[in-house]
Amino acid sequence: MRVAVIGTGYVGLVTGVVLADLGNDVICVDIDPHKVAMLKQGKSPIYEPGIEEMLVRGLRSNHLSISDSVAEATKASDIVFIAVGTPQSPDGAPDMKYVIAAATEIGRAVDHYVIVVNKSTVPVGSGTLVAETIAGQGVSADLFDIVSNPEFLREGSAIRDTLQPDRIVIGASNPIAAQRVSDLYATIDAPKIITDVNSAELIKYGSNSFLAMKISFINAISRICEACEADVSKVAEGMGADKRIGRPFLNAGLGWGGSCFPKDVAGMINIAAKFGYDFKLLKEVVAINDDQTLHFVDRIRRRLGGLKGKRIALMGLAFKPDTDDIRDAKSLVMIREILNEGGSVVAYDPIAAENVRQVFPDIEYANNTQELASGADALVLVTEWNEFRQIDLARLSRLLKQPLLFDGRRIYAKKVAEEAGFEYCCVGG
Ligand code: UGA
Repeated sequence: MRVAVIGTGYVGLVTGVVLADLGNDVICVDIDPHKVAMLKQGKSPIYEPGIEEMLVRGLRSNHLSISDSVAEATKASDIVFIAVGTPQSPDGAPDMKYVIAAATEIGRAVDHYVIVVNKSTVPVGSGTLVAETIAGQGVSADLFDIVSNPEFLREGSAIRDTLQPDRIVIGASNPIAAQRVSDLYATIDAPKIITDVNSAELIKYGSNSFLAMKISFINAISRICEACEADVSKVAEGMGADKRIGRPFLNAGLGWGGSCFPKDVAGMINIAAKFGYDFKLLKEVVAINDDQTLHFVDRIRRRLGGLKGKRIALMGLAFKPDTDDIRDAKSLVMIREILNEGGSVVAYDPIAAENVRQVFPDIEYANNTQELASGADALVLVTEWNEFRQIDLARLSRLLKQPLLFDGRRIYAKKVAEEAGFEYCCVGG
């Protein structure tokens, strides 16, 4: 099939390269000339395992091309995906300006029947908004259909999540359009949930909000575990063994961050309010999340007798492993707290340090974990990169001024850390 994908952020680029890899003829479009130039050379603007190989393969096979023209791509395609950003507005609602801009350009270019697919995370009613925007350019209703096809990929495992999803959700008012989009995914073995546009849009927000709630729930339990000396990992294992609950997303830690959960939970609260429902449960989910990191900093503060004049070493900065993304990363909250109290920060991350440097140019950045630990008053595990899991803790403990290890993601066993010479403290323990 001939496909255009507008927007080459995480969702757009992964969708484009995967659809090209499945044999479709795909044009990926972006308005950013720098991104377009990089992509044409086979370089990915985002860090994502496996994406560059697929990009190069697509360009070489001619199944994939890169363009800066929505009009050209629309004219050459049967299906046009809108995968532009929907950043959070000050009131929590997703900002639809990029979606409207893309729909306007599509509307101006339509000269044959196209299916326009909303892949961006958009609030309920966006299908209608996109349809009205296209029709507003004088396009007759029989020349296009709107489909909602939300994305559930995770950063760091985006290609795998796209090729092996738990489900594919397709919302449309025209069943023929829904079938055409479903055919695009014919080779992917996953249940297809075909529904109306509003339900598909709500599935996306409902899913991300529920997952954030699961994490906040176990983090609330972790606070009780700290007080009664229970083991939150075992509690999660026991709860998660019930198939109705499930073990994934029950890892206690410093809380959820990234480009999706914070924005989508705020979006869900906003959507609910617009439809007259006060989603108090989700407001509490956010409050628990905000408190989780501050509470952990407080434990470090209490153990050190204040943060003033203390050198704190942060291990990992990205909002989660396998990405250089630092949007709403818990490391940023920690750095701010420590600096505000007159402490100093030294930080190390395998790939996200440069992004943090843009926000905090004046903290110290180490090149490896030994440099990081040297002379620090405490070592704090913030992001659970694999390279930290098997690290030589005994060697590190000797480098610190005081051998204190605060594990914000519970990746070390207390006994192992103590045998390595550390005094060990972790979330939920
Ligand atoms: C999330 C969803 O998992 C995807 O399904 C969705 O497509 C995506 O948002 C999106 O809407 O685009 P992502 O933000 O890439 O994906 O990251 P996750 O792996 O879900 O992690 C989110 C946050 O939750 C991270 O800060 C992570 O550290 C935290 N987390 C996750 C926990 O604290 N505990 C857990 O058990 C799992």
